[in-house]
Amino acid sequence: MRFLFLGPPGAGKGTQAKIISEKLKIKMISTGDLLRENVKKGTELGKLAERYMKSGKLVPDDIMLTLIEREVKVLNSFILDGFPRTINQAKGLDDMLAKLNKEIQRVFYFMISDSEIIRRLSSRRVCPECNRNYNILFKPPQEDEICDVCKVKLFIREDDKEEVIKKRIEIFKENTFPLVEYYEKRGILFKINAGKEPEKVTEEILNTIKL
Ligand code: AP5
Ligand code: MG
Repeated sequence: MRFLFLGPPGAGKGTQAKIISEKLKIKMISTGDLLRENVKKGTELGKLAERYMKSGKLVPDDIMLTLIEREVKVLNSFILDGFPRTINQAKGLDDMLAKLNKEIQRVFYFMISDSEIIRRLSSRRVCPECNRNYNILFKPPQEDEICDVCKVKLFIREDDKEEVIKKRIEIFKENTFPLVEYYEKRGILFKINAGKEPEKVTEEILNTIKL
């Protein structure tokens, strides 16, 4: 099984990728998480990526393709969360997979309104230890601002400031949205109503996988 989760920031790609990967026992690869790990460790890649991420801009395609190739090469099944994000990345991924005699089987496009994106992202909190995502409106931790598991203080992602969220939405529309047509033409795009409760979204994805 090789799936892509495509959609604007805050659509719930990461939340659903985690749930589906656990249910189906396939690995999820989140480029956002991989980049944030590199920033945290202070690697060369992290230092380079941080400049773009802070302002909501996309990290250059060549860096992203190198990063993803290492992961994809060694896996037969995977869910890609947040990659590809440009036509160039999608073509690079196609070439990479073709060399391995593989291809993407399904692309899930998470549809959601801009106002809901802003609502979700401005209320997100993240654990610095385990990366768990909380939401003070929809999924609050048991204790205010503290991770249920690691018991450390949660933080707000630097790119979840309202002006950066707006920039990310703009960049999505300009650079990533064209991928909807790219995969639609191939007949592998499935539209998901991502504005519902998380359980309902999971159900819709699982039902689509069974089709
Ligand atoms: P990345 O981390 O991928 O950020 P993003 O796409 O902007 O996605 P988010 O993580 O904000 O949203 P999500 O759809 O995963 O939603 P989530 O489940 O977290 O990328 C960050 C940056 O890295 C980019 O801006 C770029 O700079 C760089 N980058 C990454 N990949 C790249 C690439 N391929 N090329 C170039 N640059 C790249 O949920 C969000 C919140 O909503 C959470 O609080 C959650 O609890 C809540 N929530 C989730 N589902 C629901 C629901 N159904 N109802 C209510 N609340 C919900
Ligand atoms: Mg995410």
